[in-house]
Amino acid sequence: SNDLLTDKFGRTVKSLRISLTNRCNLDCIYCHSEGDEGSRNEMTVGMISDIVTTAAKFGVNKVKFSGGEPLVRKDFEEILRALPELKDVSVTTNGVLLKDRAYALKEAGLDRVNVSLDTLDPEKYAYITHGKPENLNDVLEGINAAIDAGLTPVKINMVLLKGINENEIDEMLDFVRTHKGDLVLQIIQVMDFREGAQYNLDAEEIEKDLERRADTTRMRKMHHRKSYIIDGAEVEFVRPIDNAEFCANCNRLRITADGKLKPCLLVNDNLIDFSNADPEDLPELLRASIERRIPFYRDSKERRIIEKKTIIGDQ
Ligand code: GTP
Ligand code: 5AD
Repeated sequence: SNDLLTDKFGRTVKSLRISLTNRCNLDCIYCHSEGDEGSRNEMTVGMISDIVTTAAKFGVNKVKFSGGEPLVRKDFEEILRALPELKDVSVTTNGVLLKDRAYALKEAGLDRVNVSLDTLDPEKYAYITHGKPENLNDVLEGINAAIDAGLTPVKINMVLLKGINENEIDEMLDFVRTHKGDLVLQIIQVMDFREGAQYNLDAEEIEKDLERRADTTRMRKMHHRKSYIIDGAEVEFVRPIDNAEFCANCNRLRITADGKLKPCLLVNDNLIDFSNADPEDLPELLRASIERRIPFYRDSKERRIIEKKTIIGDQ
């Protein structure tokens, strides 16, 4: 029954966010590395297939693959082919390696793709990613290939960075308008918890401005997230900080690249290792991880502190 995946706060997990690797071919200045603890071990195709198959029996119908950069795994197509039937299978990639694989990925069962692209300026792109300016062209070709292959809607992930790309929203909207219906702009509030974090900006203000300009606003049920249509361009805004709704509506469980269940993306001290488990023990481990899910917190620093208390309380 689905009860297995419902947490103490009534949130039922319907989706898995699976990191396939901690390796990446870029090195973005703001990257949160999805909480990578540094392990170089990567799950095998069999392990991924077993955990998804088990979760699917308990009502999970969505899988998101992330990294590091998931496309550095040459067996990604094989992983896709080993999955059970699901409603939505997607990947978030930097797009550098997408062009030559878009069709194969679609054929292997991928439904859609999100591509990280914070700027359309090659020099700025190189600055942000510590890559080459020419990589930007590969990414743009990757986006076109994804559209051609039907990996749509292709979401363009733009992380807003103070002093770097905050003035490029309109340019990005124009870019999305070049493929109306196939491209969605996903603007993301940066999660930067470092001391003296310099990229943070007032995301609420920016979202309000978009809302004012929107012809249509609707609620996307999938993530309890608003989407706006501005002169034909569709925009979603991801605001994980100062936004209790984000966590209150969280329906996902994360899986680290080395095979650990993780209740929250950026909290690393309550993981459950299933990398050596028997497949028949996976339901119990999933249940244990669900039990470790915490309620929502406005501010992530506060969340980390309370998280530790919760764990101590549990033991
Ligand atoms: P789709 O819209 O279904 O494609 O999923 P998504 O938007 O969650 O996926 P994507 O990988 O594109 O992530 C967008 C942003 O949300 C990134 O900045 C992620 O780091 C962030 N994000 C995704 N899941 C979580 C989460 O559980 N917690 C937090 N704090 N951020 C998350
Ligand atoms: N804050 C918000 N989003 C981030 N991403 C990476 N680091 C951060 C951060 N510190 C985004 C990437 C990618 C997605 C998986 O997460 O741009 O699109």
